[in-house]
Amino acid sequence: MIILGIESSCDETACAILKDGELLSNVVVSQIDIFKSYGGVIPEVAARSHLEAILPVIDKAISDAKVNWDIIDYIAVTNTPGLLGSLLIGTLTARTLAILHNKPLYAIHHLKSHIYSNWLSASGETGPSQRPQFPLLSLVISGGHTQIIKMTHHNHFEIIGTTLDDAVGECFDKIAKILGLPYPGGPSIAAAAEKGNPKKYHFPHPKTKNPLDFSFSGLKTAVLRQVQKECGVGLDFPSHELKNLLTPEQINDFAASFQKTAIDILLEKLRLAKKLNPDTKSIVFAGGVSANQELRKMATASELPVFFPNPKFSGDNAAMVAMACFYEIKSGIKPTDPYKLTLAPRSDLC
Ligand SMILES: Nc1ncnc2c1ncn2[C@@H]1O[C@H](COP(=O)(O)OP(=O)(O)OP(=O)(O)O)[C@@H](O)[C@H]1O
Ligand SMILES: [Mg+2]
Repeated sequence: MIILGIESSCDETACAILKDGELLSNVVVSQIDIFKSYGGVIPEVAARSHLEAILPVIDKAISDAKVNWDIIDYIAVTNTPGLLGSLLIGTLTARTLAILHNKPLYAIHHLKSHIYSNWLSASGETGPSQRPQFPLLSLVISGGHTQIIKMTHHNHFEIIGTTLDDAVGECFDKIAKILGLPYPGGPSIAAAAEKGNPKKYHFPHPKTKNPLDFSFSGLKTAVLRQVQKECGVGLDFPSHELKNLLTPEQINDFAASFQKTAIDILLEKLRLAKKLNPDTKSIVFAGGVSANQELRKMATASELPVFFPNPKFSGDNAAMVAMACFYEIKSGIKPTDPYKLTLAPRSDLC
């Protein structure tokens, strides 16, 4: 069974070919270099960049995998959630190819793909050697989402905790901006944190009505207020100028203290979720923030039965889209009518 996967939900244009669950090719063209100078993604620019990249990316994935359209069985594409203009390029391309080559099409939820990146073990040098076992808890931590999802079996998802405001990845990106660290914020905060003191500043852990829910907007504000205090300026001081008043040592200490707080919050909630679900056999991390090395170290040390995607599959890619499709097909889920393929903005998994 050969699946061609397509991903274009945000600022990565990607295509991958999966044969019987094994990855044959994986092509990702990232727009990070375009958005570095802006400090964030501009949706219209992202959509135009996808338009330029998508056909060459698909051609390369097909030629790298040494396959052709005659032997490709299925097409899988991310249809939600994401930036509408970006999703439109991927889904219209997939739909056109499905009609042109007469292939069944699967519309795949982006968060499901992030979770299924953990089944891409064979292709990664640091990927898990075993498959996650059910029932499992997945912590999806990305630029747009922070959720704890319970899975009793393939393709069955129950959201038991979610962020009430910002996603943790968004929080990394916004705090990096305040500290004058480059976009995307996650990797640059992680790099600065290595040189900083994580105990220098103390930030609160928010309380939520459902103890498994998250709230990261308060943490973002707490860091901002502490930076203002440290710089000796008032609340009305322009936040984009704060970076000019900070020393490299202060920046590293803020990065380390924020990162520690964010990781502590994530693992605290996960431990509670595990306690409330004692039959849990695996904990599965997913999404861009799961690339964080300190998080990996702390989670592994906490004796939870953890799985992390290979770092090259933690951000957006199409290998995970094809893998999620593989398990939909195995579960007997029917293809999506290409003419009725719908798009939706960021939303929950269930
Ligand atoms: N090493 C890291 N440490 C912390 N955060 C990281 C790291 N690497 C990447 N990130 C963060 O991961 C996020 C991007 O992840 P991802 O591509 O999964 O999100 P997205 O696709 O934008 O959002 P979503 O998947 O919710 O639609 C960014 O916020 C980025 O800062
Ligand atoms: Mg993503």
